[in-house]
Amino acid sequence: MYDVLDFQSVLEVLRPVQDPELRKSLVELNMIRNITIDDGKVSFTLVLTTPACPLREFIVEDCQKAVKKLPGVMDVSIEVTAETPQQKNIGDTSSGVRQRTDVPGIKNIIAISSGKGGVGKSTVAVNVAVALAQTGAKVGLLDADIYGPNDPTMLGLGDAQMIVRSEEKGEVLEPAFNHGVKLVSMGFLIDRDQPVIWRGPMLNGVIRQFLYQVQWGDLDYLIVDMPPGTGDAQLTLTQAVPMAGAVIVTTPQTVALLDSRKGLRMFQQMNVPILGIVENMSYFIPPDMPDKQYDIFGSGGGEKTASELGVPLLGCVPLEIATRIGGDSGVPIVVGEPDSKSAKALRAIAFAIAGKVSVAALT
Ligand SMILES: Nc1ncnc2c1ncn2[C@@H]1O[C@H](COP(=O)(O)OP(=O)(O)OP(=O)(O)O)[C@@H](O)[C@H]1O
Ligand SMILES: [Mg+2]
Repeated sequence: MYDVLDFQSVLEVLRPVQDPELRKSLVELNMIRNITIDDGKVSFTLVLTTPACPLREFIVEDCQKAVKKLPGVMDVSIEVTAETPQQKNIGDTSSGVRQRTDVPGIKNIIAISSGKGGVGKSTVAVNVAVALAQTGAKVGLLDADIYGPNDPTMLGLGDAQMIVRSEEKGEVLEPAFNHGVKLVSMGFLIDRDQPVIWRGPMLNGVIRQFLYQVQWGDLDYLIVDMPPGTGDAQLTLTQAVPMAGAVIVTTPQTVALLDSRKGLRMFQQMNVPILGIVENMSYFIPPDMPDKQYDIFGSGGGEKTASELGVPLLGCVPLEIATRIGGDSGVPIVVGEPDSKSAKALRAIAFAIAGKVSVAALT
């Protein structure tokens, strides 16, 4: 054992402590910084890979226990911060995809997609974005649903506007902001009562503009709410930027599952990692009997698809009236009813996504 209390001995007792998700030593991952020792008081900074780390309390406790084993330690003080790792650009010229261009300042871009419409992509995207922001992460939301943008309403920005500024390099958009999340959406630029009739090439231009001509600033996560299907928007996005991954939203119905399989294959084809599946509307919770649940669409579908396709199931969100009301009123359920089953499920999904992104970036 160590008989002196110094920088090296602190580092050595911390070496066996692992990040439970990455299964690697905190010391090797460079997560222990700024060790100081002052009269038996050991202080250091624990730098997590995401502010949304669900295991932070356990990691802190493990560190405390390890350091207290050293002789002469009177007190251990740990400051916890986070540094989200940046996704590497997976240059995959093998698939004929042209080189993707990073958006400066954005660390991880995550698509929320599905093969089928109306399964809850926007609901999941908005709540995941807000849940990540609630942990202290810097979060943006890009509404890639050009034809039917819903995110302004869902984020309580129905009456907001995006400021368009003319600069030397062209027009620059300033995102709207609410519930801790920066939002860019076609909904801010069009008359909401008019249908948007555009062709693919224009859509391509808009999505690129939403990526590269927006003053996003520094973001840990940019969540992209995709339109349904496997169309131009998916193609444009996956060709334009290196992505941390895609999340596929599905409902337990067989048709929805078949469609989500198609959506999933498309991302795999484009070499975008699949972070996992979210099963939405898994079961119904009656508002007057919140302890009951009814499997309207059958149960276990998301789990079965996830295991068949070899991707993780990130979580199941119940069908709850409060979730729909939260969307319509612009107060997402993770804000409006944070203790509801749906809010808890959505928060856990946000943490699971952040965890998977960290693992992917560090390995
Ligand atoms: N878990 C849920 N509980 C209750 N209502 C929900 C739930 N998930 C989604 N909804 C509601 O279902 C409707 C469709 O959801 P949402 O707009 O999120 O789906 P979407 O997949 O984004 O649709 P689209 O394909 O049109 O973009 C919305 O009114 C939303 O409030
Ligand atoms: Mg939507």
